[in-house]
Amino acid sequence: MTEVGIDAVEIWTGKLTLDLANTFAPAKGEDPEKYTKGLGLNASSFPDTYEDIVTMGANAAHRLMEHEGLEPEDIGRIDVATESAFDNSKPVSTYIAGCLEEVFEGEFSHANKGERKFACVAGTQSIDDAYNWIKAGRHRGRSALVIATDTALYARNDPGEATQGAGAVAMLISEDPDLVSLSTEQGYGSADETDFLKPNQQFPSVDGKRSVQVYLARMREALEDFESVAGRVTAEDFAYGPFHTPFPGMVRKAALFAYRHMTRDTAIEDELAEEIGRQPREEAFDNDSEYEDALREYMDGLKRTESYREWYARVIDPTLTISRNVGNWYTGSVHLARTSALKTAFDEGRDLAGERLLVGSYGSGAQAEIHAETVQNTWEEKIDDLTIDEQIERRYDLSFEEYERVHDVHNHAIETEHDGEIEEFTAPESEFVFGGWGRMGERKYRFIE
Ligand code: HMG
Repeated sequence: MTEVGIDAVEIWTGKLTLDLANTFAPAKGEDPEKYTKGLGLNASSFPDTYEDIVTMGANAAHRLMEHEGLEPEDIGRIDVATESAFDNSKPVSTYIAGCLEEVFEGEFSHANKGERKFACVAGTQSIDDAYNWIKAGRHRGRSALVIATDTALYARNDPGEATQGAGAVAMLISEDPDLVSLSTEQGYGSADETDFLKPNQQFPSVDGKRSVQVYLARMREALEDFESVAGRVTAEDFAYGPFHTPFPGMVRKAALFAYRHMTRDTAIEDELAEEIGRQPREEAFDNDSEYEDALREYMDGLKRTESYREWYARVIDPTLTISRNVGNWYTGSVHLARTSALKTAFDEGRDLAGERLLVGSYGSGAQAEIHAETVQNTWEEKIDDLTIDEQIERRYDLSFEEYERVHDVHNHAIETEHDGEIEEFTAPESEFVFGGWGRMGERKYRFIE
C-alpha cells in the first residue's frame, strides 16, 4: 500500500520577540514564574511591521521549495490553514502563490488552492485533505503544499495575551514521504462549543478556563475513538506525543490524563499500586463527587511518581522546546511540536527510523483529532536543514512600549493609518514583505533581495 505523509517541513518565526518573564511580567506587575513555570512559556514571537500571515507563509514555503529543489509545476495543491485571514472571499493561498510566482519561473496555474478553517485543528485537516487527494490518485504524481500560518494576537489585557505568538509552518505532503507517514486510523472528539471564537472580529472572545476543560474533554474522546479503530494505546507505544500546544502548561495537564488512561490495566498500574494505590474505577463509588475526589488524589500522586516523570521527560517535554520560546501559533502549533520532537532526537543523535509518534491536534469550537505517524528512514536529512534555532536567536527583543506599538500595527481596526510605511525593527533580507494596499483594498507584497 502506498504510504502518504510529510515529505519535508520548514518553519518561519515572526522576527520580533517579547520576553515574558523579563519584559511582560514586570509591566503587568506579575510574578515571572507565572509565565515560565505556570504557563511554561519564556517568550512570544511577533511579526515585524512588514510581516503578516502571507509573508510568513510565503517565506516558509519559499525556503521549503528551494531545499527540495521544487518548481511550481511539482505542486498540485496549496492549502492554507489559518484563523487570522483578512478576506472572507479570496483565500490566503492565492496571495502566497502570487508571492512564490515572483521568485520561481513557473506558475501554479493548475494547482488547486484553498483555505481551511477550524481554529487550530485546520492545519491537520489540510494535511488530511492532501492525504485523501493523493490516496484517491488525483495528484498526477505531484505533491501538496500545506501552510499553517497565524498571527495569534489577543486583545490587550485579555488573559490570553500571555500566550500570543506568530509564525508559519510549511509542509510538503507526498507519496512515499521522507519524514513521516500518516496512519489511516484517526480518532475524533467533536462538539459544538463556545469557549474561543472570533465572530467577524480580529481578536478572540475567550473563556480561557473553560477552553482548558474543553481541550481535555475533546482530546480524551479523540483518543478513545482512535483506540476503537487502531487498538489499545499504551505508554510505551510511541517515541513522542506531539500535541497542540497553546502553551506548554496545557500539554502538561493533558499528558497526565493521557498517562493515566494509557497505563490503566497494565503492568505499570500494578507497579504503581504500592506507591499510590490503583486507579479509581467509577463503578466503585456511590456518587460523582466521591469519584472525582478520588481521581484528583490519584492524579496528584501519579504526577509525583518516577514512572510518570521519566515518561513525561522522554515522550512529551521534547515536543515543547520550540513552543516555549515562540508561544501559540494556532494552526501551526502541533506541527511545531512534531518538529521540536524530531529536532531533539536529531540533536541527541537518536536513531528514530521506524518509531511512531502519537499526534494530537485540537481546535476550539471544538474538535480534537488523533492519529499515528511513522518516522521514515530519511528523516534526519529533512531535520538537518532547519534553521529555527538561529531564527529564534536573531529575533529583535521588544521593550514593552515597542510591543504595544507592534500590537497596534497589526490591529486591523487601526492598520490603515500606517499604510505599510511605518518603522520596522529588523531589516528584511531575501524575503517577502508587505508592501501596502492595492486599489480594491487588497494587500500587496514584494520580494526583497
Ligand atoms: P490566567 O488566569 O492568566 O492564569 O489564564 P492562571 O492564574 O490560571 O495561571 C496560569 C498557571 O500558572 C496556573 O497553573 C497557575 O497555578 C500558575 P495551573 O494551576 O493551571 O496548573 N501560576 C504560577 N505558577 C508558578 N508561579 C507563580 C504562578 N502564578 C500562577 N507565581 C489561561 C490562563 C490559560 C486561561 C489564559 O492564558 C488564556 O485565556 N489563554 C487563552 C486560551 C487558551 O490558550 N486555552 C487553551 C486551551 S484552548 C486551545 O488550545 C485552543 C486555542 O489554541 C485556539 C484555537 O484552537 O484556535 C487557544
